[in-house]
Amino acid sequence: MKQNSRTGSDIPRYAVLGHPVAHSQSPRIHRSFVAQFDLNLEYTAIEVEPEGFPEAVTAFQAAGGLGLNVTVPFKQEAWRLADSLSERARLAGAVNTLRFESGGERFGDNTDGAGLARDLERNLGFRIDGRRILVVGAGGAVRGVLGPLLEAGPASLVIANRTAEKALELADRFAGYGKIAGCGLNGLVGESFDLVINGTAASLAGKVPELPSRLFRPEALAYDMMYGDRPTVFMDWAQEHGAACIADGLGMLVEQAAESFYLWRGLRPNTAPALAALRGGKV
Ligand code: ATR
Repeated sequence: MKQNSRTGSDIPRYAVLGHPVAHSQSPRIHRSFVAQFDLNLEYTAIEVEPEGFPEAVTAFQAAGGLGLNVTVPFKQEAWRLADSLSERARLAGAVNTLRFESGGERFGDNTDGAGLARDLERNLGFRIDGRRILVVGAGGAVRGVLGPLLEAGPASLVIANRTAEKALELADRFAGYGKIAGCGLNGLVGESFDLVINGTAASLAGKVPELPSRLFRPEALAYDMMYGDRPTVFMDWAQEHGAACIADGLGMLVEQAAESFYLWRGLRPNTAPALAALRGGKV
């Protein structure tokens, strides 16, 4: 095993880089994964100043670190820093996982979409195949999840955004998959969906995107990629407007972590204990 040159320790080292990162649940999630295997592994959260991302990556790698998770606001910068990319990261234009190869090459991947798809299908029992999906928002969070959602074979996927042009651009970027369209929020009148994913930052400000009220088909699931101590305002709104089920993004957070863990260690952890712990045992 490669020696950690700065600490002299041979414990494999991983970390999440972000700004801010103090609130990150990732160290807790990875501790839960490590406990399932005969492994000694260190995973920490490292606060990085907005201008200091490339230096922080170089320093972590030089100190013997083996891989990184990357969170807000550095996912696009990580994409640019990677020497090679998975196809899903290339299309997303964003990297949330770096793996340092033995020659020092930086491999960039994006596990957010696989995490979302896995949370939907495994944890929530929602089959994407053949269903009509609406994704609201067209920022970095949404770019990261479109590829894996489209690969799961929905009947159609509509991206709707407050600023319509961004939704159209994104739909264009993923046009190779087919069955994808973009529009403004007002372009949704008269449409209905089996799954509505809120990928906007609106919940952070306690707001709900201005969506038409008859959006949900019978049995529809409303999913907010955000999460908090209680249901988000979008989840409350969805329930009031006919969604049969609601879910927050905590399961996606745990599942994307599991995908990163798999990329680094080749082991698939059981995600249920971490999710239960994060929900305070209320699963
Ligand atoms: P992130 O990387 O988290 O996706 P971002 O790139 O800033 O952040 O994108 C934020 C997304 O949330 C955008 O789609 C934004 O819509 P605009 O492109 O029109 O700005 C959306 N958003 C933020 N606040 C919103 C609100 N109150 N209602 C609707 N959409 C909102």
